[in-house]
Amino acid sequence: MRIEVRQTRPYPDQKPGTSGLRKKTRVFLENPTYLENFVQAIFDCLPDKAGKTLVLGGDGRYHNRKALQTIIKMALANGFGTLLVGQGGLLSTPAASHLIRKYHALGGIILSASHNPGGPDGDFGIKYNIDNGGPAPEKYTEAFYRRSQEISEYRIAVMDDIDLDTLGEHQLDGATLRIIDPVSDYAELMAQLFDFDRMRQALTSGKVSICFDAMHAVTGPYAKRILEGQLGAPQGSVINAVPLEDFGGGHPDPNLTYARELVEKMYGPDAPTLGAASDGDGDRNMILGRGFFVTPSDSLALLAANAHRAPGYRAGLRGVARSMPTSRAVDRVADALGIPCYETPTGWKFFGNLLDAGKITLCGEESFGTGSDHVREKDGLWAVLFWLNIVVASGQEVATLVKDHWRRFGRNYYTRHDYEAIPSDTGHAIMDDLRRKLPELPGQRFGSFTARAADDFSYTDPVDGSVTTGQGIRILLEPEARLIFRLSGTGTEGATFRIYMERYEPDPTRLDLDTQETLAELIELAETLSQVKQRTGRDGPTVIT
Ligand code: G6P
Ligand code: ZN
Repeated sequence: MRIEVRQTRPYPDQKPGTSGLRKKTRVFLENPTYLENFVQAIFDCLPDKAGKTLVLGGDGRYHNRKALQTIIKMALANGFGTLLVGQGGLLSTPAASHLIRKYHALGGIILSASHNPGGPDGDFGIKYNIDNGGPAPEKYTEAFYRRSQEISEYRIAVMDDIDLDTLGEHQLDGATLRIIDPVSDYAELMAQLFDFDRMRQALTSGKVSICFDAMHAVTGPYAKRILEGQLGAPQGSVINAVPLEDFGGGHPDPNLTYARELVEKMYGPDAPTLGAASDGDGDRNMILGRGFFVTPSDSLALLAANAHRAPGYRAGLRGVARSMPTSRAVDRVADALGIPCYETPTGWKFFGNLLDAGKITLCGEESFGTGSDHVREKDGLWAVLFWLNIVVASGQEVATLVKDHWRRFGRNYYTRHDYEAIPSDTGHAIMDDLRRKLPELPGQRFGSFTARAADDFSYTDPVDGSVTTGQGIRILLEPEARLIFRLSGTGTEGATFRIYMERYEPDPTRLDLDTQETLAELIELAETLSQVKQRTGRDGPTVIT
């Protein structure tokens, strides 16, 4: 194995966003050392790599295999001792997180642009996870970025491509490269957390049925093996199960708009008990019952309230956490359980310290992410198995479980309106104007609401004391409601302006209202304050969740 030192140059736009470096695939294809530059920057920032283990895989999107070959050769040239690579170049984000933890790896590189479309005209991305299995915190990503702006060389081994499809071990000049089954370690972990025996009984007897939409993304093989293989769900319970480089031309984002086939099934005459979908890299989840959609915020609250039904969580929860724009439904459960509830900025990385310090067991975000201390990423299939466990253990329909939950805790009506791909300048100008209005808001009346407080959310990490500012405009209203404005940190085109609206309803006779109607006054107030429609010339949001 010969090691070559080759020339590269800084690319000014290699600043990682909410979740790694995510760009149009063309940016990677057309700039000859774009990937190499960023990967070498990561490696340069990791002090003790010699002999250490690195986990490598991706969500299978276009360019996954080619990029992986380059990264393997660079990792070998940079002195790693062991490379664990998912067969076919595949590893879901939560499975990679688990492997890093289980095999005490220094970290891992996951190739994914999550729920963004793939293909030459789609998106590609690369993210680094640290030794706790979680996404690299900001002090790392900042360092990667700084390094990417100054390097001029990268190291690479000159060798043939590795056969990614055959399981087995390669010895390469003192380093070991192992092509591993991407599913088995993860499946073993799931079997420890959930009541597989009871779930198998319910699925094979037909008492409970499931439809899981893998959206032609990475969870296909995981769901097939676990749901149909280990738990005995009938063949065909997992749909769109084969990972494709372009996700079958779809948008691998599990929401009501993009998971169309699943949604039609769940609202049709032969709907199974539980419907679920996951995204490109397997960390998001959407949960549906028969003719019923569970919002991610409600899902988190319900998992917290019913966690004792799953063996892995029977001992109780230490605490819970949610991102700031996530609804406050879980806060009420935490109150009832007498455990702390933390409010963090958007982005899974903010849960890492809380999980590592044992302050929380469950956490989640409105953006279809839920997870626990079993890994350091959100975990799509885990959430689905958790729901399945609860449905089986309770003998209840999904809708019944949720409605009972509302009767017990009250309902947090919740919606998110997204204005996608608006001009960047406009997005920032809207946010700036909102920020300027903040001081005058408290005490002001808006229709039936009064503003109680308003701020630009900032977070002090209770574990390491680090402070993160500018995380979204938050307006707290009386009677209990919230209005939140934020720019997306994951878009690759212009800016995406998000409005989150929430109203708490304790009245047990008013739990079945239409969400958009019951939030109409807040939706109008959001326009009054931001004037987003007027300033973008749009009629309304691109996506309503
Ligand atoms: C990624 C992160 C999530 C985060 C989401 C926010 O998916 O992994 O933790 O909630 O981005 O996306 P946004 O587009 O709202 O910044
Ligand atoms: Zn994802």
